This record gives sequence, C-alpha cells and structure tokens, in this order.
Amino acid sequence: MTRSDPLDAARARDLAAVVAERHVIVCTGSGGVGKTTTAAALAVGAARRGRRTIVLTIDPARRLAQSLGLGELGDRPHPVAGVDGLDAMMLDMKRTFDEVIERHAGDAARAARIKGNRFYQQMSDSLAGTQEYMAMEKLHDLAELGAYDCIVIDTPPTRNALDFLDAPRRLTDFLEGRFLKMFLAPGMAAGKLATRAAGFGAGLFMRAASKLTGQALLGDLAEFFQSFDGMYDGFKQRAQAVYKLLQSPDTAFVVVASPESPALREARYFLERLAEDGMPTAGLVVNRVTPPPVPAVASLRPAEALAAADRLAGGGPEQQAAAAVLRLHADRVDVARRERKIIAAALHGLDPRTLTEVPLLRGDVHDVDDLAAVGSYLYGHGG
Ligand SMILES: Nc1ncnc2c1ncn2[C@@H]1O[C@H](COP(=O)(O)OP(=O)(O)O)[C@@H](O)[C@H]1O
Ligand SMILES: [Mg+2]
Repeated sequence: MTRSDPLDAARARDLAAVVAERHVIVCTGSGGVGKTTTAAALAVGAARRGRRTIVLTIDPARRLAQSLGLGELGDRPHPVAGVDGLDAMMLDMKRTFDEVIERHAGDAARAARIKGNRFYQQMSDSLAGTQEYMAMEKLHDLAELGAYDCIVIDTPPTRNALDFLDAPRRLTDFLEGRFLKMFLAPGMAAGKLATRAAGFGAGLFMRAASKLTGQALLGDLAEFFQSFDGMYDGFKQRAQAVYKLLQSPDTAFVVVASPESPALREARYFLERLAEDGMPTAGLVVNRVTPPPVPAVASLRPAEALAAADRLAGGGPEQQAAAAVLRLHADRVDVARRERKIIAAALHGLDPRTLTEVPLLRGDVHDVDDLAAVGSYLYGHGG
C-alpha cells in the first residue's frame, strides 16, 4: 500500500467478502452521494449471509425509513421485515448525548444538572462534530453489546467526510480545561467573551452560545463547564476506544462517491486520510453512474444518432418519438463517456479493482427489494 494507492487492494476489492466477514462497516462520503442507501444495502447483504446484523442509519429518506420499520421509535434496534437477522435503528442525537452525559457524570444529580443546562441544550445540536461523535458513541455501544456479528454504520450528512474522523478530537478539545478556563476567567464581560471565542475560531460554538444572552449566557456557560470538570478523561478514553475499534482489521470503511469531480476528489482525499490514520479501507463505491446503453444500440455513435434524429424532424408523431429516443441515446452515451473520464481522472493511480460502480436505478431506493438490487451491483450479480 503506497501513498498514491491508499486502498488495500488485496483485501478491499470484494465487497461480498466484506459483508461476509467484517465486524464493523462504516459508510462514508460527502453529502447526498448514497451513503445511507449503501449502508442499508450492505446490511441486507450481511444479514442474507446469515450474520446477525444491525444498520445504524443517521438520516434515512422517509420511504426508506418506513420500509426499514423506523417510525417514531426508530432510535432502538428494530427488526426489519423481510430480512431475517437484520435490525435497523436511527441515531437519536439528543438521546445519545444524554446517555453519554449520564455515563460520564458519575452521579444522577450532576447528570441532571448538565441536561438541564441551557447551554448544553443548545450545544447538543449545534456544536460542530457532535453528530459525528454521537454516531461513534452508538457504534461503541453496539460493539460492546456483542449482540451482532456485523454492525453497519451510516455517517452524518456532513459536507466534509473527514469530520467523522476528526469529531472525537474536536469534541474533547472543546471540552478540555484550557478552553473552558478562559471562559471562566472572573469578570469577563459577554462582549469580550465573544471576541475571545472568535479568536479560537469557535464559530459554531458561538452560534450555540449566541442563542443565550448576557448574564444568562455567562451563568449557564460557567455552570456547564464546572459540571463537566473531571469528566474529560472519560470522554477521551471513550474516543480513543472508538478510534481503536475503527482501526481494527475487522472494520471496513466503504467510501461512497457520486460520479462527479468534487465528490470523487473528496473520496480520494478521504481514502488517503484513512490510510494515514491506519484505518482499513474496503473499497470505493461510485453510485448513480449513468448506465451504459443497451447492447443492441451501444455501437450507435452519438453523432449518428443525432443526425438520424434530425432527418426524422418534421415527421409525424412516430418519427418524433423515434427522434426523441435517438437524442436521448446520444445524450446518455455522452454523459456516460464524460463520467468515465471524470472517474478515471479523479481516481488516477488507484487500483481499479477496488472500485465498485452502482448505476442510477429507476426511481428511488426505498425498500428491501431496491436495496437487494443495489446489492447485486455491490457484490456482483451473485447478490
Ligand atoms: N443507485 C441509485 N439509484 C437511484 N437512486 C438512488 C441511488 N442511490 C441513492 N439513491 C437515492 O438518492 C437519494 C440520496 O441517497 P442517500 O443514500 O440518502 O444519500 P446520503 O445518505 O449520502 O445523503 C435517496 O433518495 C436514494 O433513494
Ligand atoms: Mg444519509
């Protein structure tokens, strides 16, 4: 494995082996590329291989959530109808954060104090990296539970996939004494506080803080950090444990991208970062690739198709329909070609065997059959 080829080709290429063997599978990639879909499809694959499996989803589209049985109470493991051995659950940020507090607080009174703190209530959904951190917490819980052979985890819809890896460090940094002591400096006025926080580049932090004003802010902040005193070690240890779990050879990161330059660039960057951190990568999925034209017309070049379409122009409805189909064909061949070039350029130097393509399917992926269809591309047509 070299710097320019961060994928461990020998182990990575076979996603069928990944779902058959690995204990933890993490799907990651930039927003909207198909992480949740891929995670669910991999989980169906693992369960169909007889493994007790759970998929932890973060933001499933509504119809997918419904078919996975994730309604209002989706934040606890729940069997998926139609797939033996598969459970699904959704990450409930607030609840997970509360559980983390309860675990680390040591006593119920302190936990209650933190949970009642207005700064905590704001922070728990606006602090950068919180969702990523909580996803890791849940992963750790599920792994510790020991009830599953395979845990597939979807990652939050962050713009930058790296947030997932940086989250524990960022959150523990934030909670660390150095940062809070500054805030607790006696006599600091709210204005000065804002200036100092900005100096630390803590924009999101201030967004949480700015929802509270003046004295209330200072009071709640002080109380928040005071009640956290002594809890940092617990957080840190936990974050380290999760990191270790992610580095285990029983873990596999599956990076998902769309066939577009920014998503592919980010995927590549992420693969390199994973390699640097010693995280086991298990391939790159390029999702929603324009399907190739059907074999019967595959040899019809776009220019020929367009010329024929032009000759049909001005004809009756049937000719018009034929012209439309020809133009569609030309367009599709062009798009497919462009995509090939974009994929090849972005992944230059990577072992092509580690690449798995899933075509753009007709309609959304929203039930177990659709997931199986995605799976048929992920594992090759053996399903
Ligand atoms: N191969 C595919 N073909 C057609 N639709 C897809 C495909 N993959 C994903 N989708 C659809 O695209 C949308 C976004 O996918 P999703 O998995 O939620 O992305 P992400 O989790 O990365 O934000 C969903 O509506 C999903 O059904
Ligand atoms: Mg998603």
